[in-house]
Amino acid sequence: MKTTPHPIQYQGSKRNLAPDILRYLPKDIDCLIEPFSGSAAISIAAAERQMAKNYWINDINKPLSELLQIIVESPIEMASFYEQIWNAQHSNSLEHYYQVRESFNHTKDPRLFLYLLARCVKGSVRYNLEGLFNQSPDKRRYGTRPETMRANIVGVSKLLKGKSKFSSSDYKEILFQSNKNDLIYMDPPYQGVCGDRDCRYLSGIDHNDFVAALEKLNSREIRYIVSYDGRRGNKEFGKSLPDFLDLTRIELNAGRSSQATLLGRDEITYESLYLSRNLIENFSKKSTENYRYSSVQQLALLEYHTGYA
Ligand SMILES: C[S@@+](CC[C@H](N)C(=O)[O-])C[C@H]1O[C@@H](n2cnc3c(N)ncnc32)[C@H](O)[C@@H]1O
Repeated sequence: MKTTPHPIQYQGSKRNLAPDILRYLPKDIDCLIEPFSGSAAISIAAAERQMAKNYWINDINKPLSELLQIIVESPIEMASFYEQIWNAQHSNSLEHYYQVRESFNHTKDPRLFLYLLARCVKGSVRYNLEGLFNQSPDKRRYGTRPETMRANIVGVSKLLKGKSKFSSSDYKEILFQSNKNDLIYMDPPYQGVCGDRDCRYLSGIDHNDFVAALEKLNSREIRYIVSYDGRRGNKEFGKSLPDFLDLTRIELNAGRSSQATLLGRDEITYESLYLSRNLIENFSKKSTENYRYSSVQQLALLEYHTGYA
C-alpha cells in the first residue's frame, strides 16, 4: 500500500487523522491555507489527493517553515545534507546530537532541525524561555534512516513543488490575507498544557484573540476548519469554542492513548473539529456533490452542532 510521505517527525502531527479531516474539505479550493502548519500533514495529504490548486504553509516557528520550504524546493540537497549528518553520528551519537543542537540554536539552520526532530524524544519539540530548542535525544534510536528520509523528502517535494508558498508569521496576518475561494485549516497549540505558554511549541495563542480572529473570518465569509479541544474518556482538555461563532462540531476518534493503555485504562481520545457555518451551508445546498466523501454517518455527525450543547 502506498504511504503518504512525511519527512518531519512532529508531536501533535495530524498525519493519522488527516484522512478523517479531509472528508470535510470542499472540492473547489483555490488555496488551502495552514496558518499553524507544524509538519504540514494536512497540506501533504490534501496535495496527494489533489484537493487544492495551491497551498500556503505557515508556522510562526521560522526554522520549521524554512525547513518545509527547503524540502519542497531543494529535495536532493536536503536529503544529502541529512545523510551526511546522520552518518556522522555513529562515533558518539549522543554527543553528536548535543553538538548539532547547539549549532542549531546558534545558527537556526533549518536543515539541522530535520535531524534534531528525527532524533529527539518522540519528535516532540521543547523550548526554554529564551526560545532555545532543548529537547533531549532518544537514547534508543538513531532517527529515520537516510534512505527512508530521502524517499519522504522527494515524495513531499513532488506533491507540493510549484504550488506552495511558505511563511513564518503570526496566524492573524495569514487569516487576514485569505479569500472566499480558499479553505483555512487551523490546528493551533492546545491551550493550558504548561500554564499560559505551551512549552511544546515556540509560541502559544490566546483563546480570546483566537475567537476574535474567527469572528472576523465569519464576517468575511471565509471557509475554515479548526482542530481545537477534545476529550479522553470523560476528561475534557482545552476550552471549547463558543456557540456564537455558529460552528458545527464533530468529534474525531484519535485512538487509544499509549499512556492510558500503559495504565490499563481503556480510554479513547476524541479530538474536536469545528466547521465554519458557510462550509455547512455549502454542504446542505450542494449536498454530497460539493464534498469528496459522503456517508450517512457523516451526515449524522454534521448534526452535532455546538448550538445544541
Ligand atoms: C498543534 S501544532 C500543528 C501541528 C500540525 N497540524 C501538524 O500536522 O504537524 C501547532 C503549531 O502552531 C504553531 N504556532 C504557535 N503559535 C503560533 C502563532 N501565533 N502563529 C502561527 N503559528 C503558531 C506552533 O509552532 C506549532 O507548530
